[in-house]
Amino acid sequence: MQHANKYIPFQPVKLENRQWPDRVIDKPPIWCSVDLRDGNQALVDPMNLQEKLEFFKTLCDIGFKEIEVGFPSASETEFEICRELIQGGHIPDDVTIQVLVQAREHLIRRTFEAIKGAKNVIVHFYNSTSTLQRKVVFKKDMKGITQIAVEGARLIRQLIKEYQGDTNIRIEYSPESFSGTETDFAVDICAAVMEELGATPENKIILNLPNTVEMCTPNTYADQVEYFIRHLPNRESAIISIHPHNDRGTGVAAAELAILAGAERVEGTLFGNGERTGNLDIITLGLNMYTQGMDPGLDFSNIPALREMYERCTRMRVHERHPYAGDLVFTAFSGSHQDAINKGVQYMRESGSKYWEIPYLPIDPADIGRQYEPIIRINSQSGKGGAAFVMQNNFGYILPKEMHPEFGSIVKAECDRLGREISAQELFDLFRSNYIDIQQKFKLGRYSFTELSGEPSEVEFRGSVVCDGVEHNISGKGNGPIDAFFKALKLVGIENYEFVSYHQHAISSGSDSKAVTYIGLKRPDGKTVFGVGISSNINKASILGVLCAVNRSLLV
Ligand code: KIV
Ligand code: ZN
Repeated sequence: MQHANKYIPFQPVKLENRQWPDRVIDKPPIWCSVDLRDGNQALVDPMNLQEKLEFFKTLCDIGFKEIEVGFPSASETEFEICRELIQGGHIPDDVTIQVLVQAREHLIRRTFEAIKGAKNVIVHFYNSTSTLQRKVVFKKDMKGITQIAVEGARLIRQLIKEYQGDTNIRIEYSPESFSGTETDFAVDICAAVMEELGATPENKIILNLPNTVEMCTPNTYADQVEYFIRHLPNRESAIISIHPHNDRGTGVAAAELAILAGAERVEGTLFGNGERTGNLDIITLGLNMYTQGMDPGLDFSNIPALREMYERCTRMRVHERHPYAGDLVFTAFSGSHQDAINKGVQYMRESGSKYWEIPYLPIDPADIGRQYEPIIRINSQSGKGGAAFVMQNNFGYILPKEMHPEFGSIVKAECDRLGREISAQELFDLFRSNYIDIQQKFKLGRYSFTELSGEPSEVEFRGSVVCDGVEHNISGKGNGPIDAFFKALKLVGIENYEFVSYHQHAISSGSDSKAVTYIGLKRPDGKTVFGVGISSNINKASILGVLCAVNRSLLV
């Protein structure tokens, strides 16, 4: 990268004794969706009327009370959509629509025509104030730029008087490209607009401070917002709003720090749609607050439904790794992550904790309409814990810890062989073919157990095993059924095996209930091999487990 010296480093505002780093976010801001304007204007194919109406309804259902519906003076289509929203009765009484307009006379007049008959409206006017735009676009000095804003404000004030009636009109002013504007100038121009409009604490103006193009690290935007608020005359007559974009990929961070710096209102879009790299993603910001124990005041409990509507109406796609919403964000491939999630789920179950305490999962997927099932996916990177988790979570088989490495390496070998991840069902099929439907050199024939009298008490196994098609009668005594069977097996040459582990649990409920036994045997060569036995009789499940381990030991 040889040409870095052609870029001018950003000059942060000089803020003494900044307060925001020591604050925490303790309440949600006023939310304003700009999906239907900033989001829509950035689409390859802008939404049609039906799509905008559906999107608008969804925004109302989520709980937005302020929604920028368009730029009605920009085109006939935009004008008509605004009229349909108003005349078609689509706007709930407690929702305020917002319309954007440049600070230009004919556009402002046309905007006031578009909002006729609406109950609550925010007229949002703007002009660009940045150093660069003054130099290369408008070729005007600060005075000239201020004049544009003040004249716009004057006309709006006059039109509000003319339009007085049932419409409750509030005003928003944006010094567009605020973060690229000398902050003192941004203060001055906003103060001039406030004065022209006669803003009061009872009739506040919304001053929106766009990070139109993200220019530096998010702390510099927060500094600008705090500086602006501290220097703004008549501050209590304004609601401070922010409008972050995401050019450096830090739109959410910039919004969070700007809220710490005193912003009271936030403009953004669902999934961060918007010009270039997008606007601030309100879903991420809201759910970030939620995971800090705060209700954001917007309902994101069904992210899959929101995403479906968003993708259909905008023809955009939500990235697989998009916070909270992407396909893969609740999926752990890494073995150690899977293991930790597994332990977290177990901890929650056993401790009855009222808090969400699962490593690697900052949010309960169920809270946003996502599912647990795909949390753990199995590929060759996955560890033993992941396979065990799916076996338990999806199929109810609680594999003992000692068995995890053995089954884990079977799973890894299969993923390597296929060169892809395997599904939960494929995982279970692998378990079945390796532990249940295995090739059996030794098969259990008829058998019985007898409790022998005496102290210590003993159990006797009498029965048969079929070895390579030939039935052998065997018997043995031991301190329990497994021990007795194990001893009887010596008669068919199964010797020098050491019994190393035994685990059993019930697998299904009610009359269908079965016992699953996991048996670990150490072979004469020192290798431990596991076997699984399943039966409605617990003793039978155990001896089947022993035979399974023996049979497997001859195969692996
Ligand atoms: O990004 C921006 O500056 C805007 C303004 C029009 C508010 O969208
Ligand atoms: Zn914008």
